[in-house]
Amino acid sequence: MKEVSKKGNHRNSERFSTGIGVLMATLGSAVGLGNIWKFPYLTGSNGGAAFLIVYIICTILVGFPILVAEHMLGRKGRGDAVSTFENVAPKSAWWVIGASGILAAFLIMAFYTEVAGWVFAYVFKSFGSGLLSTDPEVTSSIFASLVSNPVQSLIWQWIVLAVVGAIIMLGVAKGIEGTTKRLLPILALLLIIIGIRSITLPGAGQGLSFLFKPDFSKITAPVILTAMGLAFFKLSIGMGCMLTYGSYYSEDQNIPKNAARVVAADLTVSILAGIAIFPAVFSFGFEPAAGTQLLFITIPSVFASMPLGGVFMVAFFLLTAFAAIGAMISLVEVVVAFLVNRTKLGRKKSTLITVVSMAVVGSLAALSNSTMANVTVFGKTFFDLYDYVSSNILLPVGGLMIAIFATWVWGWPRFKEALSNNGALANEGVLKAVYNILKFVSPVLVAIILLTGLNIVHI
Ligand code: PFF
Repeated sequence: MKEVSKKGNHRNSERFSTGIGVLMATLGSAVGLGNIWKFPYLTGSNGGAAFLIVYIICTILVGFPILVAEHMLGRKGRGDAVSTFENVAPKSAWWVIGASGILAAFLIMAFYTEVAGWVFAYVFKSFGSGLLSTDPEVTSSIFASLVSNPVQSLIWQWIVLAVVGAIIMLGVAKGIEGTTKRLLPILALLLIIIGIRSITLPGAGQGLSFLFKPDFSKITAPVILTAMGLAFFKLSIGMGCMLTYGSYYSEDQNIPKNAARVVAADLTVSILAGIAIFPAVFSFGFEPAAGTQLLFITIPSVFASMPLGGVFMVAFFLLTAFAAIGAMISLVEVVVAFLVNRTKLGRKKSTLITVVSMAVVGSLAALSNSTMANVTVFGKTFFDLYDYVSSNILLPVGGLMIAIFATWVWGWPRFKEALSNNGALANEGVLKAVYNILKFVSPVLVAIILLTGLNIVHI
């Protein structure tokens, strides 16, 4: 639903009904393949514990304050990614952040839907017994046969997009709140069960050392950029997605507290996924730096070594699919909310146009392991390119701008007023700390990490 005020601004009039609804919906966007697939694969490829530490530092000093700022501006602006900036900063160019967010949503969806497609396919594969193996060669070849088949890759991606499109057409409240609320605690519980099995495997200690005992020699400027990119991607920030969520907040909800809970819960799920995967990687002789396939080749081996493994495996991939759907809903929402506000298309047509365009852009990523495996840009397949450009460039640049806008432009008096709910919350100390980090620390860190990680400046 939208209202167009007299000034012609587009304002969103939907609100989440309860505090827990907001928390769960926000988590529905944050928790997804980023935790279960991307976090373990990047940690594995970038040296383990030291990467984890850099990632956590980026989450606290960059991710958390920007998440707060996005929710704050989203609640003030009450619009889509672009009109929020037009509402809070009329007659300025800040809306460009929203526009770059829409581009980022496309690029992320292009590869995310492919990985989600692998998850969907694995739900079905889990019903057979073929996947249940502790032999790296067996699990790798099953994965390879899926991704090297162009027809299967495309069809699974389209199925994913069709499912997400259909959910969005049902509307914001039902679509977003309903699907994501109930399933996250079950996913966390399942990860704990898998983690317990994994750490009791013979030789599991090596995996735990890999995840928790840092070797800082592994840290280079590009590795730090990857960790920061993951922090942005994980919290769905730097691209207007969390602005859209902020627009659904009611005036009395405590934004900083909610954001802290989101960060803590999100980090917990990622670490649980790491504990489920790395001990098994070392116990069965997988390669921690296996890359994007890591989850798919190693997790079946944990299930193969536990009672009722087949049943747990179906549940695991199903819950992962749901978590991915929650995140994708929020990504598609960024584009759909914009189209609904800006055009006369209406919700259904906007959604349809969005998912069909995403299928077109995404097909290049879907074919990156088969037909288009040899087509590269800057040495990267389209799958890797979409991921790199969105996580490591667009989101950090967007986040940098949001941090600058919220502090240097928007300023302390309005920041304090908005986040203390007009003085109703006694949280000035916390706000002051978040504000100063957002003003002086986050932008400097993001700028340095971007410039060195992209090799523009050498330190
Ligand atoms: N945060 C999601 C994940 O970690 O899976 C991915 C994501 C969702 C990124 C929404 C960006 C976004 F706007």
